[in-house]
Amino acid sequence: MSTHLDGWQRSHNLGELTTQDDGKKVILMGWVQTRRDHGNIIFIDLRDRFGMTQVVLDPAQAKGLLEIGDKLRNEFVLAVQGTVRKRPEGMINTRVLTGAIEVIADTVKLLNPSDPLPFQIQDPSEASETIRLKYRYLDLRRQQLKNNILKRIQLVREMRRALEDENFLDIETPYLYKSTPEGAREFLVPSRVHAGKFYALPQSPQLFKQVLMISGFDRYYQVVKCFRDEDLRADRQPEFSQIDLEMSFVDREQILATMERVIARAWGKASGQEVKLPIARMSYDQAMEEYGCDKPDTRFELKLHNIGPEVSKCEFKVFAQALSTGGIVNVIRVPAQAEAFSRKDLDELGELAKQHGSGGLAWAKVKDGAGIESWQSPIAKFVGEAAVQSINQKLGAKAGDLLLFGAGDYRSTKASLSAVRLEMARRLKLLDPQQFNFLWVLDFPSFERDAESGRLIACHHPFTSPRDEDLVHLDSQPEKVKAKAYDLVLNGNEVAGGSIRIHDQGLQAKIFKLLGLTPEEAQTKFGFLLEALRFGAPPHGGMAFGLDRLVMLLTGSDSIRDVIPFPKTNKAACLMTEAPNDVSAEELRSLHIRVQKMTLET
Ligand code: AMO
Ligand code: AMP
Repeated sequence: MSTHLDGWQRSHNLGELTTQDDGKKVILMGWVQTRRDHGNIIFIDLRDRFGMTQVVLDPAQAKGLLEIGDKLRNEFVLAVQGTVRKRPEGMINTRVLTGAIEVIADTVKLLNPSDPLPFQIQDPSEASETIRLKYRYLDLRRQQLKNNILKRIQLVREMRRALEDENFLDIETPYLYKSTPEGAREFLVPSRVHAGKFYALPQSPQLFKQVLMISGFDRYYQVVKCFRDEDLRADRQPEFSQIDLEMSFVDREQILATMERVIARAWGKASGQEVKLPIARMSYDQAMEEYGCDKPDTRFELKLHNIGPEVSKCEFKVFAQALSTGGIVNVIRVPAQAEAFSRKDLDELGELAKQHGSGGLAWAKVKDGAGIESWQSPIAKFVGEAAVQSINQKLGAKAGDLLLFGAGDYRSTKASLSAVRLEMARRLKLLDPQQFNFLWVLDFPSFERDAESGRLIACHHPFTSPRDEDLVHLDSQPEKVKAKAYDLVLNGNEVAGGSIRIHDQGLQAKIFKLLGLTPEEAQTKFGFLLEALRFGAPPHGGMAFGLDRLVMLLTGSDSIRDVIPFPKTNKAACLMTEAPNDVSAEELRSLHIRVQKMTLET
């Protein structure tokens, strides 16, 4: 029998037939999802991207149907000609759109068989992620993954609509860019025409969009791939997508207000949940102080409290040492959970704190009583009567509460308590994936010092404008300078970041200098920008949404790999196509490249 269409035309997709179509002659096409053989009659669930329709192979209708039906296996591709029939009472399946009808086949055409599957489409749980990534085209047939991709498409569509309605213009920028190493490592592309020279794939279209503002294309946006050769995690891919945008003649407030309208509309549509405006705000300093990180998950409390003053005189050596070396002592109060945490649990939390750079995690279980009697804790007697009393008072601690202490330098103590805070929320099941807490984090520092080299680096990027009132500190105390930068945080994930840019050529040159670039280096890397800024650059600013992260949260996925059609592994490989791969000596020669493998220290 022919495996070609031979002029057959699909009359309906597999998600649209209803009882209204009763009696209609139809031609359907799709994949065999399941086949149920009842001996003298065979039921097929036929699937396409729109849905599923039940097809009945009944020998009473036409000869040979059972013979074909016998051969069918999961994922065979069929064309079916038949008649729509209402299902008998009691046989209606309310879980599928087409559950009230079935199609009685006259003719079945087997368009293509399928090899036995490496994993079952309906139940992939038995398959490792490695196998599923190798057979990504099969994994993408799974309902869950398909739904994720469809959600992604919907969110992009809604974002585009909202941005277009706000007068943004969709403009493409190049992927073959020049190498300007800063931030993450770049992907390089050798040039054949220019021997020994390289393009770099852009980490973001940052400078092109700024140049577009100088060109007068006020309100640019683009759904764009960005490339960063960084260490990968569940929320990072080497190539990922941004919804990138830029606006002219606006200050921070106007950008935030525009973005709020856009995200409220698009997220509202895609999630079915209203985004309450205005979105809550927090300064970077407050986020670090109370949550220990710059992307706080505000779905739950468990804040960090500074108890430096309370323990300034106490003898516990861990606290005393932290304070005497300019560090901090912080505590998290976990209400009414003392009994829920065993010694083993607390040891595990201590290990977690250590993984994030802390020396340990001290704890106390609050009991009835006063002074050190009110703490069941290995450190109670070292902390001493007075300090215990004032800590209890400061925290409003009650019998049954659990207290978790971190002490040491600011950075590692905040980082480890932030990790402990999140782990507590997980264990206490405080994280509702259906609750979406958007938060603006504002007033980031402009610069930080690289721990190893001691060099000043830009916290957001070197094109971000410092706050006007902080410009006076630029030379004397650059670390005090705050930037006109903002992040959008959703449930503890950084889902967008942006800033007001520097539009003054002199200031931009000065910032490059502060960041350690010689005038020659600044010229080589960013000469085109410095020059463009001389030709009437308007005040401008913008931001970029991390599309993959937004969709990960929208779909309740654990990793952005689950919302990207063809993702890479955490070793940056594509298991389906086997990229990256060796290339022929000839090809390398034409690119003027000789490969010498070296062992690098990392
Ligand atoms: P930034 O570097 O903060 O800003 O990136 C913007 C957003 O992109 C997402 N993101 C990533 N998603 C997946 N994998 C990655 N490796 C990855 N890296 C970043 C994050 C982040 O918030 N040009 C500036 C934006 C601007 O200033 O307008 C920029 O790229 O969600
Ligand atoms: P040690 O005397 O080092 O055994 O520490 C006593 C207690 O303090 C133990 O419960 C440790 O887990 C805890 N501890 C050690 N270092 C720190 C730290 N940097 N912050 C908080 N607690 C710590």
